[in-house]
Formats: sequence, structure tokens, C-alpha cells
Amino acid sequence: MKKTLSLFLAITSITFSSIAQPNQNDASLNWFKKTTEVIHFQLNKAAQTYKPGKNPRSVNPDGTVRLAGLTDWTTGFFPGSLWYGYELTGDKILAEEAKKFTLALDSIRNIKNTHDVGFMLYCSYGNAYRISGDKIYLPALADGAANLYARFNPKIGTIRSWDFEWLHYPVIIDNMMNLEYLYWSANQFNKPEYTNAASTHALTTIKNHFRKDYSSYHLVDYDQKTGKVLRKGTHQGVTDDSAWARGQAWGLYGYTMCYANTKNEKFLNQAEHIASYIMNHPRMPKDKVPVWDFDVHNALDTADLARRDASAAAVIASALLDLSTQVKDGKKYVDYAEEILKSLSSDAYLAKPGENHFFLLKHSVGAFLYNSEIDTPLDYADYYYLEALKRYAAIKKIEFSQKS
Ligand code: GLY
Repeated sequence: MKKTLSLFLAITSITFSSIAQPNQNDASLNWFKKTTEVIHFQLNKAAQTYKPGKNPRSVNPDGTVRLAGLTDWTTGFFPGSLWYGYELTGDKILAEEAKKFTLALDSIRNIKNTHDVGFMLYCSYGNAYRISGDKIYLPALADGAANLYARFNPKIGTIRSWDFEWLHYPVIIDNMMNLEYLYWSANQFNKPEYTNAASTHALTTIKNHFRKDYSSYHLVDYDQKTGKVLRKGTHQGVTDDSAWARGQAWGLYGYTMCYANTKNEKFLNQAEHIASYIMNHPRMPKDKVPVWDFDVHNALDTADLARRDASAAAVIASALLDLSTQVKDGKKYVDYAEEILKSLSSDAYLAKPGENHFFLLKHSVGAFLYNSEIDTPLDYADYYYLEALKRYAAIKKIEFSQKS
């Protein structure tokens, strides 16, 4: 009783503007309604707790919050989550906060040494512009896209992911995600060469990153002069030949998005094969939230939520929902994504209001073998979870009504 009362007080102790809530009387959507309330509470509290330019990234083993500064690859996700939170709840306070957290990232437009400027700027400034239409966001988006495009090497046919000196010309599967920023910028800034670079990167990656079963290597290192593949391996997977879960998710999302932008059937074919690999994987747990690498064989690990990667599950759900809208019969993808979203929205993964340092999801893994970010909330797990919920609401035609 005491607990319920303090939770109630916690929930009502901050002032919200009226929020939009799904108005269907359909009991099967109760999970979605409850989730929207949790999201609303957590994001408002997070925006009050953290400071623009120092965004919450994950939780350290000692219980402190790891903050993402201006050069951190994840720094765009928290502003992006606030924008998605605004779209899901209609709460204007979230939009105001989102704007502050976005504009604090202005200096990222000058970053030249990583493909991650895509994540950093498109998830923050990209959503800001899409939702508000405010031209204030365009100069940073233009500069960032030019810097990303400058990393494209036509001889190799890819963008260079990292500048680490111990590798030659490394390209990681994650890089597929940042092509979306180039496709969008090609139209927005009238740069057809960006489209060409993005599609060439995606085609080269089909050739060199994928195995016969459509799982992918995390990393391919190229000879910069000849374009020859020097090594196929991993950075975050359990072995060079393993299927690192988030890598499979990045690939699925990437090819689905490439097809949406180009209508090139090769990309759709690739996306559907990756989807099939993931959905039929014998080691996918019942709740459809994978262990951090599909090639971790220990059954005990599979049962242990501390080894699960909610971030991979969230990316998979968002990608499958997008894929479902681009094929004739997308029901199997919607159904699978719905199972993931219901799992992530259950008490096993979704934080209770006021807990989890105001992150939404528990149980993600950053880089297991580096002993970094194991069984922690992650800003990108939250971001893709919110994106997936938004896509789910659109597909299910969930109507929202204002509630004050
Ligand atoms: N892009 C880095 C990661 O997925 O961990």
C-alpha cells in the first residue's frame, strides 16, 4: 500500500501538460497504454534531471550514470528519444526539452573522423527538422552530411567507418544505419552523389559482409589502395565468425531502409533474408529478446536476462515494422515485432516509473568482451524502442486522444 502511494506521488509530483493517450477500448492494447504512461513519466523526469550536452547513455556498474558528451557516438539518441516521446504523447514540454537537447549538439557538425555522425546528427537534428520543420536545424545537418560523404572512397565502394590506426580501412555493419542520413540529405540538399555513395556502400557490403546464411561479419578491413578485403572479423562479437546480435539488427534495419529509399529489389531481398535468419534462429529466446551474440551457446546464458540485449531487440522490432509496410504480406513481420514490443513492455524489461535512472529499458549489452556496458540500460535501446512503438501505432492505426 505504502509502495503504491509513493509511486502515485512520484508520478503526480511533476506537472505535465495534457498528454495524448490511445483511446481504443480494446483491452489487447492495455500494454501499449501503460507503456505510453511510463514513457511520458520517464522522459519528463530525464529531461529535468540531465543537462543538454551531457546526455544519459547507460548505467555504470557502480550505479552512476554514464553521460555521453559531444564526441560520443550515442549522443544523438537522447534528444531523438525526447522527439519520439513528444510524438507518442503529444506533450509539448517534451518538444521544448528536445529542442534544447538537440541544439546543444551543434559542434558535431564539424566531426570528420567517424561514420557515427549519422547516428549523432540524424537521430537528433534529423528528427527535430522532420517534426518541427524549423530551418534552424538545417545548417548542422548539411555540414554533417558533407563530412559523412567525404568518408566515401569510390575505389573501395564504401564509407570508412573508423579512423583507428591499428586497422587499414575498417567498415562495420553498423555503418549501414548511417546511409539513411545520406539518402535524406541527397534530396534535402540536392546532392545526388550522396545517393550514389549510399547505394554503392550497401551493395559492397552485401558482397563482403555476409555469409551464405545471411548472418554478417561485424567488421571488414579493406586495403585502401586496391579495395581488396584484408580481413573479415569482429569487434564486439564473441568470435570473428559469430553473429553479434546487434550487428544482425543493424543489417536488417539498414537494408530495409535502403529499399525504402531506392526500391532496389536487391536490398529488399537482403532485408527479407536477414529477417528470416533472425526470426528462425534456433537460439532466439521465447520472448524474442536475443542474447548479445547468437553464437553464445550456453543455455544458462540464454535464460539469464543479464545476457540479453534489449537494444538489438528494439532495432529488430523497428526494422520489421518498417519492412512490413514494404512487402505484400507483412503480417508475419508485424506479429513478430509485436511479440518483441510486448516483451520489452513487460516488467522484465520496462522500468517502473522513477526507477532505472529514468531510462526506459533494462537489460542491454554494449560490448560484452570488453566488459563494457553489460546488463544496463542504453540510450539507443530506448531510442529504437520508441521508434518501434511509433511505427506500431501507425500500422495498427491507434488513435490518440488528449488527456489532461
Ligand atoms: N555502433 C556501435 C554499437 O552498436 O555498439
